[in-house]
Amino acid sequence: MNENNTDTPSPEACAGEIFELSGSKFAPDVAAELWPKILRHKWFMSEKLGRDIGLRTACIDFIENMDQVHKEFMAYRQPDFLAEMGAQTVSREIWDTISDSQPPKQLVERRIILPLTEEKLARKHGVVPPKTIIFFGPPGTGKTHFVKAIAGVLSWWYIEIAPSMLMADGADKLGANLRNVMEKARQLEKAVIFIDEFEEIAASRDMATRIDKSITNEFLKQVPLLKNQGNKILLVCATNYIRQLDSALLRPGRFDCIIPVGGLDDEGRKTILRHYLSRLNTGDINIDQITALTDRFTPADIEYMFQKVAQLAFELEYRGKQDYKVTTETFIEVVAQIPPSLTDEIIEEFRQDSATYSRA
Ligand SMILES: Nc1ncnc2c1ncn2[C@@H]1O[C@H](COP(=O)(O)OP(=O)(O)OP(=O)(O)O)[C@@H](O)[C@H]1O
Ligand SMILES: [Mg+2]
Repeated sequence: MNENNTDTPSPEACAGEIFELSGSKFAPDVAAELWPKILRHKWFMSEKLGRDIGLRTACIDFIENMDQVHKEFMAYRQPDFLAEMGAQTVSREIWDTISDSQPPKQLVERRIILPLTEEKLARKHGVVPPKTIIFFGPPGTGKTHFVKAIAGVLSWWYIEIAPSMLMADGADKLGANLRNVMEKARQLEKAVIFIDEFEEIAASRDMATRIDKSITNEFLKQVPLLKNQGNKILLVCATNYIRQLDSALLRPGRFDCIIPVGGLDDEGRKTILRHYLSRLNTGDINIDQITALTDRFTPADIEYMFQKVAQLAFELEYRGKQDYKVTTETFIEVVAQIPPSLTDEIIEEFRQDSATYSRA
């Protein structure tokens, strides 16, 4: 017999079978739910012991230890869930590419990392580590990068759930797929579950014409389930459009923290510049000058600038047939071709959103 035995008898037959095997009486509808689990337990125990344990033993053992059996089975399935959900490990070093001055690094450290790493002290003072977080901010400001950095610094699994994955079977399956993913997620230990482009699935009910509106309701059901679970799971959702999210989701009690991820100051840009500069073949570099040139650049703009600089250097050496060293002049030339992503309008909108929605 395999784990996915499908020939389920009628509820009455299930109740009859269970009574005959174990002497325990269950209402037919309860028995019908238990029956596949008993079969699964027989399979699981037989696998564990390396011999067929028989249906009677499995049934009695299952009924005596129902809770424990469920937990054990789920723990056994954890590697499968991790593989199915595409869990990745992330290097700790990502955290170090973010300057202390780059918001919200210090906030994330105080509110998320420390309560999870200094558990005893947090418990002593009644600090409850957040379990559900929203990052919002303009495109390219480093939201995804922050989530990965958190997983890396905690040494937890990083699991990214794309809305397209949840919508793969059509809009009407969105709620069911979300429930399915969250059920698996709740069985995990030490995992950061990241839902990017959250507005795609959680837009305000008045705006959500494309998708089934029940998704917000499903989400509202899943969040408390996740919070009640004792294990170490962090659900992080990111969006560029916080205003579009259903206000029911943004109310206190749903998401523990709503955190803006905005522009970089000089120190923040300099840290990223240093990080990417270390990969280039450099000559004379004035980092302060490049920092000044890249005012209003997002991390994504900086990354793009470095790609262009690298390509230019490569081509110049290829054509010139001699060592080409990247200098401040190379950056001056390339920066002129890249308009900064953060405009006055975007900055103002983000400032307003930060004032309206932030909650730590
Ligand atoms: N502090 C940083 N140091 C180095 N690279 C960074 C840093 N922050 C972000 N990046 C890089 O900049 C790029 C953009 O960042 P990221 O993808 O995290 O932005 P985002 O806010 O998630 O964007 P979007 O809204 O488009 O999803 C990524 O390639 C990322 O690796
Ligand atoms: Mg992103």
